[in-house]
Amino acid sequence: MQSREIRQSFLDFFAQKGHTVVRSAPVIPADDPTLLFTNAGMNQFKDVFLAKGTRPYVRAVDTQKCIRASGKHNDLEDVGRDTYHHTFFEMLGNWSFGDYYKHEAITWAWELMTEVWKLPKERLYATVYQDDDESFQIWNGQTDMHPDHILRFGDKDNFWEMGETGPCGPCSEIHIDLTPDGSGRDLVNVGDYRVIELWNLVFIQYNRQSNGSLEPLPMKHVDTGMGFERVAAVLQGKGSNYDSDVFQPLFERITEITGVRYGASMDDPRDIAMRVLADHARTLTFALSDGAMPSNEGRGYVLRRILRRALRYSKNLGYNEPILHQLVGTLAASMGDVFPELVKQQETVKNIIKAEEESFIVTLDRGMEIFSDVVDNVRAAKGVIIDGQDAFKLYDTYGFPFDLTTLMASEVGLQVDSEGFERCMLEQKTRARTDRKEKQQVDDDGADWRWFSNVHASAFAGYDQLELPAVITGIKHAKDKLLVVLDQTPFYAESGGQTGDRGWLANARYRFVVTDTVKDGDAILHVISEAFDKILNTVVILDDLSLNEHELSVEASVDRCVRQDAERNHTATHLMHASLRRILGQHVQQKGSFVSAERLRFDFSHFSKLSDAEIEAVEAEVNAQIRQAEKVVKYADVPYDEAIAKGALAFFGDKYADRVRMVEVPGISVELCGGTHVDNIGSIGLFKIVSESSVASGVRRIEAVTGSAAEKLLWNEYRELQQVRHLLKAKGDEAVSERVAELIEAKKELEKQLHEGKITSLLNRLTVELHASPEINGCHVMTKIVDGVDADTLRQAALGLRYTLPYAAGLLCSVDDGKVSLVSFASDKAVKELRVDAGKLIREAAKCVQGGGGGKPEFATAGGKNIDGITKALEAYAALLNTLLVCRDE
Ligand code: ALA
Repeated sequence: MQSREIRQSFLDFFAQKGHTVVRSAPVIPADDPTLLFTNAGMNQFKDVFLAKGTRPYVRAVDTQKCIRASGKHNDLEDVGRDTYHHTFFEMLGNWSFGDYYKHEAITWAWELMTEVWKLPKERLYATVYQDDDESFQIWNGQTDMHPDHILRFGDKDNFWEMGETGPCGPCSEIHIDLTPDGSGRDLVNVGDYRVIELWNLVFIQYNRQSNGSLEPLPMKHVDTGMGFERVAAVLQGKGSNYDSDVFQPLFERITEITGVRYGASMDDPRDIAMRVLADHARTLTFALSDGAMPSNEGRGYVLRRILRRALRYSKNLGYNEPILHQLVGTLAASMGDVFPELVKQQETVKNIIKAEEESFIVTLDRGMEIFSDVVDNVRAAKGVIIDGQDAFKLYDTYGFPFDLTTLMASEVGLQVDSEGFERCMLEQKTRARTDRKEKQQVDDDGADWRWFSNVHASAFAGYDQLELPAVITGIKHAKDKLLVVLDQTPFYAESGGQTGDRGWLANARYRFVVTDTVKDGDAILHVISEAFDKILNTVVILDDLSLNEHELSVEASVDRCVRQDAERNHTATHLMHASLRRILGQHVQQKGSFVSAERLRFDFSHFSKLSDAEIEAVEAEVNAQIRQAEKVVKYADVPYDEAIAKGALAFFGDKYADRVRMVEVPGISVELCGGTHVDNIGSIGLFKIVSESSVASGVRRIEAVTGSAAEKLLWNEYRELQQVRHLLKAKGDEAVSERVAELIEAKKELEKQLHEGKITSLLNRLTVELHASPEINGCHVMTKIVDGVDADTLRQAALGLRYTLPYAAGLLCSVDDGKVSLVSFASDKAVKELRVDAGKLIREAAKCVQGGGGGKPEFATAGGKNIDGITKALEAYAALLNTLLVCRDE
């Protein structure tokens, strides 16, 4: 039976028994903070088990995509080393929600396995929880399972729990004995690949509390899970999951890429590597197709670790290029009919994986070299433990996840000091925290607040009002600033990436300039950096200011222009976010945002640089929307679930209350957001992207401006361009960039000619001088300082001089940019017949200018620092040459 038929027959079997066939939930759980990945078929029904949700059916069946690579159920370390663990697998399951219980669950399982699939009964074993006599009796009395094949186990094997907390209960498992002679009874539950679990029937009846206690559930449920890949291997008579048809297309593709074939032996490093690659490619492809992204934390980091682990293993195949992304298409082709998201997301997933692979491969080799140095050192010191600091360096500089280093260490029989590694991690975090603290704008200098009333929390009224009367309830001097708390305020305090409002507080006597607004718990702090005494007509020294009770009432006014500019940028950020998701793909997620009156900055997940066309498309779309002038609908208070159901984007990783603010531009964008926004997107006026860059691997940054800032930017650019056109005397709409490029080319050509002209003129001058220079035994000798020429011109001239007279040699010096250049030359005959060696001579001369150099007998160059030594250098050169020529004669 093909694996697709096996999957289908499972679904059909339970459909016939009144089960509704449901879709697999995504591998990224939508709303369960206790889970990084969907790790069991029951995850999507957790709310039903806990009596918090209902379904329109009481029996369900599906195949669920699962990842077990973190948390309670983590099989990562075993993948590759054995032949039956996976980080990604499909779990076939059937469920009863308060409907049937143990009897049906067990007898149907038996029927499917032995009557439909005809697995040999004598090879099957059932395990039951130690005191679950009911299940024992059902196996014993209601099926023809051999009584000796029903075994009891304790909590570890036969009590299933979803995680640290949540639904759980006793379970009964079905195992199969694959030993050649059927002697595997003692191998049940000992972790031997010859006797493996196929199906787990869980009788959910408790909710594990965070304090560890078990709370009985109002109803009893059935939750079963069968390893699809395992059952496929067994039904196809294969020795391991990896030999089933599920993995064949992947192995074939890996062979095509690397030339290595699968199937040498279980322990062969290349077989292990191929299993790792096939498994990890599945995990990454499925996770990314459901919207996950590799990153530096949480589930993104688990994926990054998996990817890096796979790349390290691919080296065992002698393959050093990115490989995983080449398997995405294979998976889409072989499994896309069951999981259409693989086909839909294929290109995006391939690109993300490729970018990740490329970025790690850059440091992989270097990291492996460092690792082997570390290993050598440990061995030389006769140790067995790799220092935590070394592991941290590999992590921090070369991107080696700790478990990768541990894996590599274990392969060479060493361990890694995990505590030392943790210490380094902690130190790094503390450093980062201190840095952040130092950057905080409002320093707490320890001075005390002066409170005028017991209202310390401020009511924010600035969504609708920009001016209102308020009362100062507290005041504090902080360095050269004054912090003021009001009972209510229109000032928006910096949060969610939007900068704090600026403006004024004024009463009959004072006018305070608010330069920033920040939050401190529930209090909104108005940062005052300047004040004016209207009565005395003077600037107030803030340190000396003390307010009387009757001076506490103020008119609080936000600077409208600044606020509105910030709002333009904030709403434009929402439009751009939505547009990026439409144009680049749904993988785009906000990673950070900064909005001020001047500009906006938006960081988001995306794997490659945006092309000019993409930037232009985003900008054009946002501007077209602005021209539509849609109203912005602001919901002050909606239930979180309702907002999410409406498709509202939430900042990934942010915690939201049960009730949230939601900002919607109908038909364009909807986001959860506490910031302030324009009333109509038309008032944004204009949106202009000014830069696109990378902030981290897989995270891009766009900076943009709106409104008058955009207009000003464009005007400046336009004026610049006009000036260029004017200078070029460009006609009409003639494109000037080509003209500029031509001019630059022409300038280069002229510079070249000029340079050549200089060389020729210098050479001409020097030729005359060489003819006039003294002859020593028939050889013209010239030593000379040449002023005002660069090293290259000097070199070229000296090369030319070699050919002006049959017997000639000499040294030229120049000073350019504070550095001494020396060039020594000798004509061919001087070299061959008189044994002049320009290279040897120049080495002596160079010493006088504290420099060095060398070259061939006919031509050599040197440089030096000591300008005062030039004369000496020339003399030394002349003396040496003289000796040589004279001695030769003798
Ligand atoms: N939820 C059970 C398991 O994952 C079936 O094994």
